[in-house]
Amino acid sequence: SRKIAVLTSGGDAPGMNAAIRSVTRSAIAKGWTVMGVNQGYAGLVAGDYRELAARDVGGLLSKGGTFLGSARCPEFQKEDVREKALRNLNRSGIGALVVIGGNGSQTGGAALNDMGFPTLGVASTIDNDLVGSEITIGVDTALNIALEAIDRLRVTAASHQRGFLIEVMGRKCGYLALMAGIAGGAELVLVPEIDFEPDQIAEAIHDAYRRGKAHAMVVVAEGAKHNAEQLVRYFHDKNTGFELRATILGHVQRGGTPTAYDRLLASRLGAGAVEALDKGISGVVVGMNQGVVSTTPYSEVTGRTKGISPELYQLAHVLSR
Ligand code: F6P
Repeated sequence: SRKIAVLTSGGDAPGMNAAIRSVTRSAIAKGWTVMGVNQGYAGLVAGDYRELAARDVGGLLSKGGTFLGSARCPEFQKEDVREKALRNLNRSGIGALVVIGGNGSQTGGAALNDMGFPTLGVASTIDNDLVGSEITIGVDTALNIALEAIDRLRVTAASHQRGFLIEVMGRKCGYLALMAGIAGGAELVLVPEIDFEPDQIAEAIHDAYRRGKAHAMVVVAEGAKHNAEQLVRYFHDKNTGFELRATILGHVQRGGTPTAYDRLLASRLGAGAVEALDKGISGVVVGMNQGVVSTTPYSEVTGRTKGISPELYQLAHVLSR
């Protein structure tokens, strides 16, 4: 029988708990033992883990966050720190590690795997910037939270003929902003992938005013060239037609109750990780591609960021008439 460990790392994402539950129960179904690592790589280095039984992962599906805890662990980039983690893993008789997380977390996993310890990843980040999965665990929930906020802001914006610059998360990736913009009917979407000058944006807001819009909703990705507050300050003495306000959604987007989509995705990817290990596969990220659970080698995942679709960016523009 096998013994594996599972951890969550980096920014928490709604659905991580469902993924831990799925890894745990899928592995137990094969007669394996599962160790849950506390606080991500920090717990791996400290040897802070405990066995997870099927009952230990009950009641988790509907909970956001991660009950194992997560952390950003820059020290894990050091080889001697990783060696300490490996000594702990070997001493405990653990034969493989499942890392549930985003870009930084998968880079850590790849480094461990390169040192000869079978490691694989489960694609989980609200940013959807991870190569290897068309959609990652947590995106759908974060998007729905952003959308609800945009809907609410539009109500007050229309009452006052105001423009709102709404800043959403996503690190260097414009996915959340673009999707929230399309689904929320934004007049403009500003993403890191596409360059813009503030004056162009002021002109575009003014144009929306001239087209008779009761409000201007501008979704700004946090990684965009200028942030929401900077832009509102800059627009202060420009004629945009609207009185402007900035709202930064921030970590509100991370703490939600996982949607059905995220629970299902996490359940499938977690099970996919165990299936891969059972086939002797490691050194990959388990993701969802074209509706199928599939694996992508770490070498194609790490050091990259997924871009946004130009067609969808164009769609956001067309539909904002
Ligand atoms: O990667 C998830 C994310 O929420 C990003 O969207 C954001 O840039 C970052 O984490 C915030 O990090 P922290 O939680 O460390 O402030």
